[in-house]
Amino acid sequence: MKVMEVKDYQEMSHAAGKYIIDKVKAKPNITLGLATGGTPEGTYEYIINDYQENGTSYRKVTTFNLDEYIGLKESHPNGYRHYMDTKLFNHININISNTNIPNGDIQHFKEECLRYEQLIEAHGGIDLQILGIGSNGHIGFNEPGTKFGTKTHVVKLTDATREANARYFQKFEEVPEYAVTMGISSIMQSKEILLLVSGETKIEAMKQLLGGEVSESFPASILQLHPNVTIIADEKSLIEAKVPS
Ligand code: GLP
Repeated sequence: MKVMEVKDYQEMSHAAGKYIIDKVKAKPNITLGLATGGTPEGTYEYIINDYQENGTSYRKVTTFNLDEYIGLKESHPNGYRHYMDTKLFNHININISNTNIPNGDIQHFKEECLRYEQLIEAHGGIDLQILGIGSNGHIGFNEPGTKFGTKTHVVKLTDATREANARYFQKFEEVPEYAVTMGISSIMQSKEILLLVSGETKIEAMKQLLGGEVSESFPASILQLHPNVTIIADEKSLIEAKVPS
């Protein structure tokens, strides 16, 4: 894992935005894996600004999002389809039909998980997967204890994750209890991974990611075994971690 240490959230967002834009320019039909949450918002803003100023084209890009809550309507303001449309897709020239997000508003989840996994495969896999990290080490919505071999599946969210995400809802009880997420194995099959980390709520997670063992009790630790991971992390998040030289 390569670690790029940056000053703060803004520098992380700029470095990540630039990283992604360079990859899109090098391969205009790239397949990107995208994340939600607070962490990538600044990166998406950077990409939009670049699009407006320099016209980088996303016409041939395909995207797959990591996860989606179960039980929210597609148009729900806290659903990840709404997040992606409003924070990125509506502001660049991507073809919306090339943007994929697991459907959390259906009855037959087994079929949906299979469909999503097969769709990724049919596109030849993900070239560059953007990831955030939960303070308990979750990636996507793969909570501690998730088997490393999992493909896209349904998860029960931990209270810690629901509490962390409650800031987007009126109250804790409104945060869905379940979600669909790409599995650990689906994520590990990406050709390249870019992990973005910022802020003091991630100090413990970074300490464990860079210094701890590979264990299913800390899902992100599996990234140590991936051949092409870049971490862009700010000073605050790295304060207690030993950054490999
Ligand atoms: C959320 C998302 C993850 C995200 C993580 C961190 O629950 N499912 O994809 O990376 O938690 O979120 P944030 O960036 O807001 O800290």
